[in-house]
Amino acid sequence: MSGTGTDYQVCIAGTGSYVPETILTNEDLAKRVDTSDEWIFTRTGIRERRIAAEGEYTSHMASAAARKALEQAGLEASDVQLIIVATITPDTLTPATACYVQQQIGATAAVAFDISAACSGFLYAMKISKRLIADGAFENALIIGAEKLSAFVNWEDRTTCVLFGDGAGAAVLRRAAPEEGSVLATEMGTDGRLTHLLNIPGGGSACPITASNVGDNLSALAMQGKEVFKHAVNRMKEAAETVIQRAGLEAEDIACVIPHQANLRIIDAIADRLSVPNDRVFINLDKYGNTSAAAVAIALDEANRSGAFKRGDHIVLVVFGAGLTWAAAALRW
Ligand code: ACO
Repeated sequence: MSGTGTDYQVCIAGTGSYVPETILTNEDLAKRVDTSDEWIFTRTGIRERRIAAEGEYTSHMASAAARKALEQAGLEASDVQLIIVATITPDTLTPATACYVQQQIGATAAVAFDISAACSGFLYAMKISKRLIADGAFENALIIGAEKLSAFVNWEDRTTCVLFGDGAGAAVLRRAAPEEGSVLATEMGTDGRLTHLLNIPGGGSACPITASNVGDNLSALAMQGKEVFKHAVNRMKEAAETVIQRAGLEAEDIACVIPHQANLRIIDAIADRLSVPNDRVFINLDKYGNTSAAAVAIALDEANRSGAFKRGDHIVLVVFGAGLTWAAAALRW
């Protein structure tokens, strides 16, 4: 029970997603750096990714996804009470990208802020908004994962540039009646001892970009891929198991697992360790690559709209990212 004495049930009333039109294939990348479709696909499962247009910002993609989620939820933008944007590629360091989204979609009554938890951000936003709605502080929330990673990639570094893409996914959470869906259990964690494994070193107050370091690619993502890989598998497995158990479920009860879309080998390892058959694991990273906070949100929307699960089914979302951070959620749809 919450401090206010209420504990409302919370459901996902609608989802939406948006990806930019421009497709960058593995073959296109092989013309820029020393790589191949064969290497990228075998190591990651990625075939292509989307790249935002000139003048297309994180907030624009976020707003496009948000409009679709609101439409599916049957909620007017003017009735949205809370907007949380999860992103590591905000339009500006301040104000928050959520403020631009509030203005763009006309959600004039909403409180709006961003959270920065890398690929885990969308599920961090889900846990935060679920609690705020359950407590009675808000009746609904619009949560969005949105990234323009193409602006933060060193396009000459083959070890990272092949992995990432742009896009946005959104969900509307609201108070629910007992017979409706429910966010049953959520889990999130952080290990700040591992900040060095995956980061954007420059552009913050620790290392501003100046005339003397401007050529050093300090505002590009830097990653120790192998180390990240190991932690990703262990943490995602533990987080998924925690929410499955807390929700009172068994692996065989799960109709669909929607994992962070970073690497097919990570996804296969997790499915195997959770004993969930591959045909119950939703995958779209072949089309979009790793879109960080947007990835699980886009996958949730595509799974929802493609009928990968139906009303009453149990689904599990599980993510992992820089921080290091991780999170999971078990839902009854
Ligand atoms: N094309 C061709 N060769 C390449 C490429 C490329 N694009 N990139 C690296 N190589 C080479 C390397 O130089 C190395 O060559 P060497 O053996 O001669 O030194 C060889 O391929 C093997 O490189 P590894 O880094 O060992 O390859 P690995 O099998 O570990 O795969 C990868 C790399 C795909 C990055 C993997 O480690 C991975 O997916 N890690 C996890 C990433 C992740 O999950 N991130 C999630 C969070 S993202 C976020 O929070 C924003």
